[in-house]
Amino acid sequence: MYNFPVFFVGRDLEKDIKNYLENVSKKAGFYLSNSAENSDIIISSENIPDGISINEKNISLYSEGNEIFLLPFSYENVDLVIIKAVSVFNKKNPLDEFSLKMKHRYKLSKFLQGLVVTMEVEDKITNMSHSQRVAFYSAKWAEHLGKSQDEIEKIKELAMLHDIGRIGLEQLMLFTPTRINEFESWELEHTITGSVFLSSLDELWFAVPVIRNHHENWDGSGYPDGLSGDEIPYYARFIGIVDWFDISTHTASSEFEGIMSVEEALVYIEKNSGSVFDPNLSESFLEFIKYYLMNNNFI
Ligand SMILES: [Fe+2]
Ligand SMILES: [Fe+2]
Repeated sequence: MYNFPVFFVGRDLEKDIKNYLENVSKKAGFYLSNSAENSDIIISSENIPDGISINEKNISLYSEGNEIFLLPFSYENVDLVIIKAVSVFNKKNPLDEFSLKMKHRYKLSKFLQGLVVTMEVEDKITNMSHSQRVAFYSAKWAEHLGKSQDEIEKIKELAMLHDIGRIGLEQLMLFTPTRINEFESWELEHTITGSVFLSSLDELWFAVPVIRNHHENWDGSGYPDGLSGDEIPYYARFIGIVDWFDISTHTASSEFEGIMSVEEALVYIEKNSGSVFDPNLSESFLEFIKYYLMNNNFI
């Protein structure tokens, strides 16, 4: 964990810079002191052997007489010198905390993806479950569109997490005498349950729009928020099409064919482009999936 040093802001600093530092401290949650005595780092307009100097020309950071940092003045560089000063004070690399956060986010996401797989029924032949297939086809489609590797990974992750709210749903089904009938109405709930659940993890906030809005329809007739058109987040529209395609062509257990054949599902998507599905994305998906299935087996 990082501790914030207490910064003393010298009286000699320009008013604009003082105001800027005050704003930064409020946002980042560190403390500016009026007394040099109780402070860890002094900020002044003069060059000082231990502390930060900011004037209209330069920004510098000295620690025990050594120059650590010297940059031309800009407000972005004020941010940088503060980050650098906090890192020096904590004897840490400024990127350490950032990379720890990324690792933590990755672990948390992988753990939840594992949980999704354990609650879903895997197909006996391909060993893939609903979310795995949605992630598989979403990634293939993204690849087909020439998206960057980073974006493809993001889409895969979002697709793996899109039905996370079903964890609660399956639990509820186990403990109700009318579980099959109730299931229909709970289909709606998983978007809300999932988004509320994930909003408690700030590392995975980026997935909340997809979890909440992957069952919205282009014409506003979907759920839970009745969003329409561009109001529906892009990845929710993207993954929503693949999701619908998988649901319609597979049963939950995947041991029987779904309610539609692949051909029927493609006709349905085409017919409902612009009402249920994003017209551009559905056209792109149809082009991709037809091309894919010409060269690969359907899973
Ligand atoms: Fe869903
Ligand atoms: Fe789904």
